[in-house]
This record gives sequence, C-alpha cells and structure tokens, in this order.
Amino acid sequence: MEKLEKLYEGKAKQLFATDDPEVLWVEYKNSATAGDGEKKEDFAGKGRLNNRITTLVFDLLAKRGIPSHLVKRVGDTAQLVRKMDMFPLEIVLRNTAAGHFCSRLGVEEGIDFDEPVLEYFMKNDELHDPFVNDDDLVVLHVCTRQDLAEIAPLAKRINEALIDIFAKIDVKLVDFKIEMGRTSDGTLLLGDEITPDSCRLWDQRDHSGKVEHLDKDLFRRDLGDIIPAYEEIERRLSELAASE
Ligand code: C5P
Repeated sequence: MEKLEKLYEGKAKQLFATDDPEVLWVEYKNSATAGDGEKKEDFAGKGRLNNRITTLVFDLLAKRGIPSHLVKRVGDTAQLVRKMDMFPLEIVLRNTAAGHFCSRLGVEEGIDFDEPVLEYFMKNDELHDPFVNDDDLVVLHVCTRQDLAEIAPLAKRINEALIDIFAKIDVKLVDFKIEMGRTSDGTLLLGDEITPDSCRLWDQRDHSGKVEHLDKDLFRRDLGDIIPAYEEIERRLSELAASE
C-alpha cells in the first residue's frame, strides 16, 4: 500500500490518502494537547504507544463482535483504516463522574453512575466543541433520528465491551470519547482512536486509596509523566490480547 498526499492534520494524528480509494493511512504523532489546545507538548514514543494501543483495543473489540475502521497496523506509528464519511461528533460515554461532568454539574469526582451517561459534542473548533442534544443534531442536519437510533446503542455496546476489556487488566474505565462514520456502503463503524488520550483509565492494582491515573489527565492536570502510564496500558493490553 502506497502512502500518498496528506489530507488532514489534527492535534495527535495525520491522515494520508493511499493508492486504494477506500483506505487511508493514519500517522500517530508524539504531540499531546489539553485545554482546547492551549497546552501542548511533545512526548517521545507517544505516537508509537497510541498506535499500538488503538490497534490492540480495536482487535479486542472485534473479538467481541464490534468491528472498527482498522484494517491493520503497518509500522511503529502508522495504521491503515477504512475511509469513512465521519459524523462531526465527539461521542462521550461516562461510567463514573470526572472531568467536565464534575465541573458542569458540581458533582464530586469518582461517583459511579447507576447507568452510563451518553453525551454528544459537535466538532467545531471555533465554538470549542459545544455540548449538544439529539434535537440540536437533527435540526442542524448533523445526523438524522435514524442515525442517532443506530449511534446510541452502538456507543453503549462499545462501552460494555470496553468495560470488560479494561476490567480484565485491572483498570477502571471512567469515561471515554469515540467517533463514528459510515463506509461507502453505508455501514456504521467505530473510527478514530481509543487510547489513554481519549479515555480516563484508573488503575485498580494500586491500593493506596488515591486515584492512580493511567491516561492524559496526568498531562492535563500536571500529575506526572504520561509515557510510563501509556506503557503500562500497552503492556497489560498486550498480555490480554496474547491470552485471548
Ligand atoms: O473533558 P470531558 O470530561 O468531557 O472528557 C470526557 C472523556 O472524553 C475523557 O475520557 C476525555 O479523555 C475524552 N475527550 C477526548 N477528546 C475531547 C474531549 C474529551 O478524548 N476533545
């Protein structure tokens, strides 16, 4: 597969065309951003770790009957994915109160919910990715009711599967963000990435009583170095993948 012209560059990834019109080439970068891009830093090895972690998670999800856009990993920082028409949506699932849920609603971090909370944010840099509801998305023609009737149950199935995957490596899945799109034949698929950049992951092997973050909150909140945490997630997921 040949890597052709660059189509897009985001905060953590670059997207290239390939000689197959149905396939794109993704390059994971070493940069990390937080606070709507206000904080930015490069971490050597992060691109390689996130490429590896996304591949492991997508493969583990596929084994649980949830396909994704991933075709295969093709290098340390590169993977091939199916080209999709992406919904301009950040789909957030929360199992435990953290982050913006706490700041917006004045709730204490760490409270477990009775059922998962599904939230949508419209991808729009100028408006800083505003929080939107189903009706907003329909009247703005971002998606149809029928799209939402497929997106919401798929997001919840992904949550169930991810809770199971992370529980098996003694990690609590607090919340995460995913993106979805449709392939040229109309199939709804999970896209983008699932990494410690896009999930809140709390270590359950630590018994000190305080939360041990294995995710980008280490960077967002200046709590420590992200690389050893991402390495730990990569190591545990590799062990799980080898055992399944
Ligand atoms: O910031 P907030 O609490 O809304 O984040 C919820 C989840 O979505 C977190 O796991 C965070 O890592 C993820 N997220 C993301 N990209 C964004 C916003 C949130 O990956 N732009």
